[in-house]
Amino acid sequence: MHMAPTPGTMAAIEIVAPGGPEVLRPAQRRVPEPGPAEVLIRVSAAGVNRPDVMQRQGKYPPPPGVTDIPGLEVAGEIVALGTDVSELRTGDRVCALVAGGGYAEYCAAPAPQCLRIPDSLTAVEAAAIPETYFTVWTNVFERGRLRNGETLLVHGGSSGIGTTAIQLARAFGARVFATAGTDEKCRACERLGAERGINYKTEDFVTVVKDATGARGVDLVLDMVGGDYVPRDVEALAVEGRLVLIALQHGPKAELNLLPLLQRRLWITGSTLRPRSVEEKGAIARALHENVWPLLETGRCKPVIDSTFPLANAAEAHRRMESGAHVGKIVLTV
Ligand SMILES: NC(=O)c1ccc[n+]([C@@H]2O[C@H](COP(=O)([O-])OP(=O)(O)OC[C@H]3O[C@@H](n4cnc5c(N)ncnc54)[C@H](OP(=O)(O)O)[C@@H]3O)[C@@H](O)[C@H]2O)c1
Repeated sequence: MHMAPTPGTMAAIEIVAPGGPEVLRPAQRRVPEPGPAEVLIRVSAAGVNRPDVMQRQGKYPPPPGVTDIPGLEVAGEIVALGTDVSELRTGDRVCALVAGGGYAEYCAAPAPQCLRIPDSLTAVEAAAIPETYFTVWTNVFERGRLRNGETLLVHGGSSGIGTTAIQLARAFGARVFATAGTDEKCRACERLGAERGINYKTEDFVTVVKDATGARGVDLVLDMVGGDYVPRDVEALAVEGRLVLIALQHGPKAELNLLPLLQRRLWITGSTLRPRSVEEKGAIARALHENVWPLLETGRCKPVIDSTFPLANAAEAHRRMESGAHVGKIVLTV
């Protein structure tokens, strides 16, 4: 579709009504005005995430005050600064975590949630970073307290989140097991550093991790499945083990024997990133800059890109994600 630009407007993707990928339509919107503590980014690339699919379906509305344009992460160049922003400059190449508005030519982002793009990365790679790296950092290393020498089990190892969790956990010296729905995806997880990919359709992950750890179990489970996985996660945990829930694809309810929590001194926690404050997201950004940016700069970690689609074809990008055939991240180019 051809969209003739008018001054002060931009191309963006709208969700015309809750529904399938076809409800994502190109539209003209006003270029956002950055607030005092925000920057305006001319977007080169925007990451696609499972929560965008849920938003499109009407199951994950944007928080109050946030644009209805989908998109939780962008990479591009800063073209305007809010009055209170002093740590960034126009012309800086940044990637940013945003609460919405990424599927557009321009996007306003809180300055604390922007990170300069390492020279070694393309805009497409940089756009694939914020949502999964912020999520993995805060859940695996902050809440989950994963340490060098410990063992992680990550469900959905070939997802955007999973590919990031495998690489970061390995880089920080952990052993990693990852579940995925095909043998091919399991091998992809192993190429990224997982000791063993576990096909959850043909194998029992509790048995596999117990066998591989001499019956000890794993120190941390990062779970995006929930529901009936929760009692099995608990079974897979070692003494002092932690279970961190980040999504509930099998539903919010589980029947659980609580005795192992007492006997093995276990923790169960979880979080969602989007509603957290700018201060909290800024703190995660600083921790990433300090601990993870050196790994990206040296190429020790690199976002896994499954495919790219032009912004106007956002519907195709969502079809790709919903096909479940992807390994790693799907990115829109602007
Ligand atoms: N809490 C937070 O802050 C936060 C932030 C971002 C994302 N998330 C959540 O994290 C998940 C991954 O997001 P994404 O953007 O990376 O999406 P994605 O690439 O579409 O990942 C979804 C993953 O779930 C896996 N999965 C589905 N059923 C499974 C099962 N029974 N056992 C093991 N794995 C299973 C899929 O594996 P197969 O395709 O192999 O079946 C797929 O890898 C999503 O559920 C998303 O909502 C949470």
